[in-house]
Amino acid sequence: MQKIDARQLDLTHDVEGFIDRQQPGFTLEQPFYTSPEFFQLDKERVIFRQWQFVDHVSRIPNRGDFFLFTIAGEEIIITRGDEDKIHAHFNVCRHRGSRLCLEKQGRKRRLTCPYHAWSFELDGRLANARQMPDGFDPNDYSLHSCQVRVFEGLIFIYLGKEEEAPDFDYIADNYLPWIAPYKLADTKIATVRHFPTPANWKLVVENFLECYHCRPSHPEYCSTMGHVTYDGDGTEEGMEKYRVMYNRWLEKAKAQGRKVGYFEPPCPDQSLRVSRQVIKDNAVSTTQDGGPACKKLLGDLTDYDGGDAFFAFGENLYLLVSDDYVALLRFTPLDTLESDVTITYLVHKDAEEGVDYEPDRVAWLWEVTTEQDAKIIIDNQKGVLSDRYRPGPYSKLEGNCETFIRHYLKMLSAAERPTSKLNINPDDYTGEAIFSI
Ligand code: FES
Ligand SMILES: [Fe+2]
Repeated sequence: MQKIDARQLDLTHDVEGFIDRQQPGFTLEQPFYTSPEFFQLDKERVIFRQWQFVDHVSRIPNRGDFFLFTIAGEEIIITRGDEDKIHAHFNVCRHRGSRLCLEKQGRKRRLTCPYHAWSFELDGRLANARQMPDGFDPNDYSLHSCQVRVFEGLIFIYLGKEEEAPDFDYIADNYLPWIAPYKLADTKIATVRHFPTPANWKLVVENFLECYHCRPSHPEYCSTMGHVTYDGDGTEEGMEKYRVMYNRWLEKAKAQGRKVGYFEPPCPDQSLRVSRQVIKDNAVSTTQDGGPACKKLLGDLTDYDGGDAFFAFGENLYLLVSDDYVALLRFTPLDTLESDVTITYLVHKDAEEGVDYEPDRVAWLWEVTTEQDAKIIIDNQKGVLSDRYRPGPYSKLEGNCETFIRHYLKMLSAAERPTSKLNINPDDYTGEAIFSI
């Protein structure tokens, strides 16, 4: 395959050519992972056109609480206003464009610009601008805001044009039966861990979506999760062992009235996937010894069933849900070669640190795994930057990466950009498939 130099591209004309040339079953060509021009396209056509997870509502419990969220070169002020409503505004003053909030988080009555002191209400309306000429109408200068949706305590924002936003109700309606039992709105943040990752966001996502690398890279994850212990080796014997363990769990989980299996609502705008599966024999939570992570179970649960749940909300948020804690893995594109990985761990809101849980025990699995992932992703990016990088073939255990790349290219292509909103019956798509990430 001929190599193309990203520096010689005129992307306004060539992007469709790149998409057309993409070989099915192979990784992307180099510029997709390395070129600032492609990152700009990612921002406009993918990142700004999907709902992006920001944080848990307990991060801003009181009126006026705010924090800054950075994504693809933009800073967004997330704040709680009157009547508990959550707002999201671009951190850009409507006077002469200064950054408005300089602190990363805090509490304010109003948002006042440090430059000439224009001040804005928490909902974004301009409240005060001194000595402006006659005819100046403050209503014309509200902050640029993003759409906000809060679903089960999780804050999502949409940075693009309102009319192009994927149908959030469709996402929420399809996920609610699976997520409701955990009552995520009634949780609190146990601990947060940051993993700055100097790599293109698509390499971060691809790494998360496949477990081909689990055996060489993640001994702790492999010893914790049954599906890797057995089916990760790809042999029929391994699969059979996993099937036996899975079926044993299936009976138990069903008897407890718990959700099981796999569900993928077909959404053209955003990748959605949810599943519940066995952790491994005798484990009740995804901890180092398989014992509880927190003495208080989440939400309505009265007993462990030995399973855990996985939710994908697009490529930006993955929820790994044990019966007693949640790991929210948020992957945020920052720049062409810069991503943020932040893991927020939630436990029951009444759980007491030091009594019911220890943050390091709750964080153990995904901290050790994500540290390992950050390292391999950085090495992956270094290799992809080499003059000798060429797209390589995915293995049979990297099917989710292929699906992601297909979906990404559709989003990126002006010609193929999906726009339809589907409405389906979730029961038609719920199976009891054996799960393998
Ligand atoms: S730029 Fe904000 S008040 Fe002037
Ligand atoms: Fe990994």
